[in-house]
Amino acid sequence: MLRGKHILLAVTGSIAAYKSAQIVRLLVKEGAEVKVIMTAMAKNFITPLTMATLSKNPILVDFYNPENGDWNSHVKLGIWADLYLIAPATANTLSKMAFGIADNLLLTSYLSARCPVAVAPAMDLDMYRHPATAASLEMLKSRGVFVIEPASGELASGLEGKGRMEEPENIVRYAEYILSKKTLEGKRIMVTAGPTREPMDPVRYISNHSSGKMGYAIAKACADRGARVCIISGPVSIGISHPNIRVVRVSTASEMCDAALEEYSFSDAAIMCAAVADYSPAVYSDMKIKRTPGPYSLELTPNRDIAAEIGKIKRKGTFTLGFALETDNEIENAVSKMKKKNLDAIVLNSLKDEGAGFSVDTNKISILSSDGKVMEGCLKSKAEVAEDIADYVESKLTCL
Ligand code: CTP
Repeated sequence: MLRGKHILLAVTGSIAAYKSAQIVRLLVKEGAEVKVIMTAMAKNFITPLTMATLSKNPILVDFYNPENGDWNSHVKLGIWADLYLIAPATANTLSKMAFGIADNLLLTSYLSARCPVAVAPAMDLDMYRHPATAASLEMLKSRGVFVIEPASGELASGLEGKGRMEEPENIVRYAEYILSKKTLEGKRIMVTAGPTREPMDPVRYISNHSSGKMGYAIAKACADRGARVCIISGPVSIGISHPNIRVVRVSTASEMCDAALEEYSFSDAAIMCAAVADYSPAVYSDMKIKRTPGPYSLELTPNRDIAAEIGKIKRKGTFTLGFALETDNEIENAVSKMKKKNLDAIVLNSLKDEGAGFSVDTNKISILSSDGKVMEGCLKSKAEVAEDIADYVESKLTCL
């Protein structure tokens, strides 16, 4: 997604500056070219050597190099950048940006930047909620600057509250969102993801190995393109912070079904990626079930099939996509599922393919559509597979 993009990253004097090393690492890993500006204060928190090594570019601090007179042209930097990211951004820098003060390279580059600008504030909670900071942020937002809201939690001061710079993974995700083409703007998409848990007593449940990675990656790919996405998520260990993603957390298949039916009523597309448990214990015991000698049998009752329930109420002009994880007679089974559940298309995963399936970062899929077409993919990262699926959903939504 960021391959070949030019990212100008500015680091200001905050304890969160140590996290900017990780931002550079992630941006470079995604294929971006990164140039780093540091304020004089930032150098007290993280060394220029660290940032230069990670970004593979010399660090820019002053308007010129006092030793050889080399000029660091803010105008050239402003034109070079596809995105100007200021992370961490202190209250001081935010206020100066708001008022057009131009007393360092970071600020002159901001005034010269022709590209989108994003700031990730980092400061103590009282500084963050001070009317002066709030006014600066409002002013910057009104001029189109993207504000990556800080998170809440323990701050370096020992106080608890909002002001902690967002985590590097989420900042990079935000950068991808800013730079992607908004081809799904105005569309609402729901994605079911992860496993469900069917409890039998207060301490035990039936579940499966789904990590939710595929569903979350698809949600992100669609959200980057401007769609407003709701993930109806079973219990997973993925945290996501994205301006276009809302997560509804559920646990059981029944909860997931209720949430999905409600969300579908105002969605343009439903992508059903969750590994929903087909059965749940017929009886839930309020007390922990005790071990008894001999075999134990558990009666199971079928859960509602979410994809099939949506198939029954499918509205014209909406697009529905299911998934089929198969071990044998793959195409035949997937096509029969698609028809039985009244889906427009189904993504087939074969557990026979090495590197495909649960808990791995790669996947190999084929997309089968109700008009009989088959699109076969090769083994790719789940993020790349998600882009392919988003391309497919986009092509279908634009011709509905
Ligand atoms: N699905 C669903 N609700 C269920 C079961 C499955 O929404 N209770 C959806 C899945 O999210 C997926 C598709 O139906 O999009 C197929 O899921 P899969 O588990 O492969 O199929 P099943 O219908 O459960 O059939 P089987 O387990 O017999 O293969």
